[in-house]
Amino acid sequence: MNQRTVKVTRMNITRRTFLCATAATATNALARPLQAAMSPPTLTARPGLADLGHPSGAKTPIWGYEAAAPGPTLRLKQGTRLIRKFINALPQPSTVHWHGIRIANAMDGVPDLTQPLVQPGGDFLYDFTVPDAGTFWYHPHNRTWEQLARGLYGALVVEEADPPAVDRDDVLLIDDWRLDDQGSLNEPTFGAISDWAHGGRLGNWVTINGRADYTATVKHNERLRLRLVNTANARIFTLGVKGLNGWVVALDGQPLAAPAPIELITLAPAQRADLIVDVTAETGGDAVLFATARDRHIVIGSLKVLNQQRPARLPAPAPLAPNPVPGLGDVKSARRVKLHMQGGAMGGMRRASFEGKQLSMRDLVARGRLWAFNGVTDMPKAPLVDARPGETIRLAMHNDTAWPHAMHLHGHHFREVKADDRLGPLRDTLLVARNKTAEIAFLADNPGKWLFHCHMVEHAASGMMTWINVAT
Ligand code: C2O
Ligand code: CU
Repeated sequence: MNQRTVKVTRMNITRRTFLCATAATATNALARPLQAAMSPPTLTARPGLADLGHPSGAKTPIWGYEAAAPGPTLRLKQGTRLIRKFINALPQPSTVHWHGIRIANAMDGVPDLTQPLVQPGGDFLYDFTVPDAGTFWYHPHNRTWEQLARGLYGALVVEEADPPAVDRDDVLLIDDWRLDDQGSLNEPTFGAISDWAHGGRLGNWVTINGRADYTATVKHNERLRLRLVNTANARIFTLGVKGLNGWVVALDGQPLAAPAPIELITLAPAQRADLIVDVTAETGGDAVLFATARDRHIVIGSLKVLNQQRPARLPAPAPLAPNPVPGLGDVKSARRVKLHMQGGAMGGMRRASFEGKQLSMRDLVARGRLWAFNGVTDMPKAPLVDARPGETIRLAMHNDTAWPHAMHLHGHHFREVKADDRLGPLRDTLLVARNKTAEIAFLADNPGKWLFHCHMVEHAASGMMTWINVAT
């Protein structure tokens, strides 16, 4: 199936198909576990060719799930099981991480911490329940700085029992690739220390669902749910819409208490935003999704308005039903933990501990280690926090570097703790601005070893990585 076919199929999913799918799920409920045990569906990572819309006309050699970038959108109902036998047909070991899912630890896909690497030719059975409805995604967790950049990612959509009334439900995976003049991936700069010490690998080719010229056809006053996912290695997108009017209804898969009118949307690597928008552009016109770059707007997706869905806009949507995320304990009395984020270019880090030894910055650089948390580069032996189950943890992150970082906690969602202990929305990835401190609080209720790292994946690979233990 080529990219275009996948896209068209995805766009035709309407509320009606959701309803049919629900009925089918109910009747097949008994047959399913048996069937799954006999022959689990597979998800194969393998090399492929993608038409990213490069002007040379050349296809780009990529690595993708089912040889496509993005890989298949996996859709399932909240509370059901996702079962996939992952098959590694890549020339490198890999794993699959299900980003944002409050998952059983053994299914989290982190090499060494939660599972062994899946070697080329090997496989691993992922089998877990999805507790939360929302927009999630999956990607490798080995050499992510290379494997993600080569195209290994896909959307994981968990549908509400009672989804909001929309005419269409589209996933928009936003990526930026670093291509050379021939439209091939720029390979010599994989691992370039200059990228790693600065903002990470930034691309020069922005795509939505694998196309630089993403277009779709819509109708005037049609209501769309747009699930935006930033799958880039390191780029922070600031996005806006024109000819579309509506609300942000969820962030990182978790519904907002009240839909928020759309202004500009900042999406750090790995972050998601669910929008419910009405097409307000007139028939014959265009609605666009744009990214801001300095003071310019760059159109990254355009929606052609073919005709009219209905004469007037629908009324404002109700908030999405909250997910069953247990509430935080008292944040005032919560246990407090500090994270000192250090290193990178212009950061002033002099030394850090690597594999138990204190090394000078020069020796760290020689080992490809450029960043540190609390004076330690790379995964520390001891967890940053050893939490009792059900304990509320308050974590203050001081970004003592010249770069922003998108901090991601596995297996949990957290809230930002703002001034006067006001709590922000539930998230799994938070952008921490340079030279700023941000504090989060979470309920450590999911037993296991959970990675906590920067999602600018080059930063993670060169030191910005730690973990949290939640006792059983
Ligand atoms: Cu999306 Cu540890 O990753
Ligand atoms: Cu970072």
